[in-house]
Amino acid sequence: MPVLGLGTWRMGEAADRRAAEVAAVREAIALGYRLIDTAEMYGEGGAETVVGQAIAEALRAGDVRREELFVVSKVYPHNASRRGTREACERSLKRLGLDAIDLYLLHWRGEHPLAHTVEAMQALVAQGRIGHWGVSNFDTDDMQELVQVTGDGPGCAANQVYLSLGERGPEFGLLPWLRERGMPLMAYSPIDQGALAQDVGLAKLAGQLGVTAAQLALAAVMARPGVVAIPKAVRSAHLKENLAAAELKLDAATLAELDRLHPPPRRKTALAMI
Ligand SMILES: NC(=O)c1ccc[n+]([C@@H]2O[C@H](COP(=O)([O-])OP(=O)(O)OC[C@H]3O[C@@H](n4cnc5c(N)ncnc54)[C@H](OP(=O)(O)O)[C@@H]3O)[C@@H](O)[C@H]2O)c1
Repeated sequence: MPVLGLGTWRMGEAADRRAAEVAAVREAIALGYRLIDTAEMYGEGGAETVVGQAIAEALRAGDVRREELFVVSKVYPHNASRRGTREACERSLKRLGLDAIDLYLLHWRGEHPLAHTVEAMQALVAQGRIGHWGVSNFDTDDMQELVQVTGDGPGCAANQVYLSLGERGPEFGLLPWLRERGMPLMAYSPIDQGALAQDVGLAKLAGQLGVTAAQLALAAVMARPGVVAIPKAVRSAHLKENLAAAELKLDAATLAELDRLHPPPRRKTALAMI
C-alpha cells in the first residue's frame, strides 16, 4: 500500500462541483497518486461515481494501468449484514466501474454482529470482488474482538482511524497493536480537515524547513512506521503539495519540536471520530 493516498469525503455532493472533482481525481492520478479512498457514504454514492469517472478517463488516456491503482471503499454499518455487505459492494463496484475493490472496509461498528460482516467480507475476497477487507474507527478493544471472529479466512488488512498531529491518541495502544500484527493504520483527516495548514507554530517550523504547514503535518503522520495518510484535496496546489510531502524526511530535532508543539499521548484515550 502506498504511504500516501487521496481522500474523497465531501466529493460527489453537488452537481455543480462534479466536473472539478473528476478533474481533481484525474489530476491526482496523472501526478502519481495510486491510492484513492472513498465510501458509499460520501455523497451517498456520489464520490464513488466521481472516482469511477476519473479512473475510467485515466485508464482510457493511458495515464495508469488498473493494477497500479489501489482503490479503497467502505460499507455503511447498517448495510454490513451477511447479505447487505455483498449487495452494497456490488452497488459500489457499479458506481466505481470496477470489477474489484482493492480494500473494502466496515466504515464503523454498527448493529450487525462482527462475525456476519467478516463472513461476508471473506466471501467477497473468495469471489474476487474485493482484494482485501478491513475496518475503520476500530479501537484496540474492537480489534481484539475482531481477531476472535476472523477464523482461518483472510484476516483484517487495515484499520482506518483519525490520526493527525492534532489527534495523536492512536499512537498510544492502537498503533503499536496494529504494528505488531503487520496491519497498516490508515490515517484519516491528517491535516485536521485543513486546520493544521493554519497552525501558527507548525507554519513557523515548516517555514524554517522550506515547506508548508500542511506538508509538515502530513510528513509527521507518515513518519510513523505502519501509517498511511489519505489527505483529501481538490485544489491542484494542494494535490501537488501533499504528494511532495511523501518525500520529506524529518530529522530528530524536527520530530522533537513537533512533539513539543503537539505532544504525544501519555496514556490511553478513547478513539476520536470525525
Ligand atoms: N473512515 C472514516 O470514518 C473517515 C472519516 C473522515 C475522513 N475519512 C477519509 O479521509 C480523508 C481525509 O480526511 P478529511 O477530508 O476529513 O480531511 P483532511 O484531508 O485532513 O483535510 C482536507 C481539507 O484540507 C484541505 N487541504 C488539503 N491539502 C491541503 C494543503 N496542502 N494545504 C492547505 N489545505 C489543504 C482540503 O482543501 P481542498 O479540498 O479545497 O483542496 C480540504 O478542505 C477523507 O476525504 C476520507 O476519504 C475517513
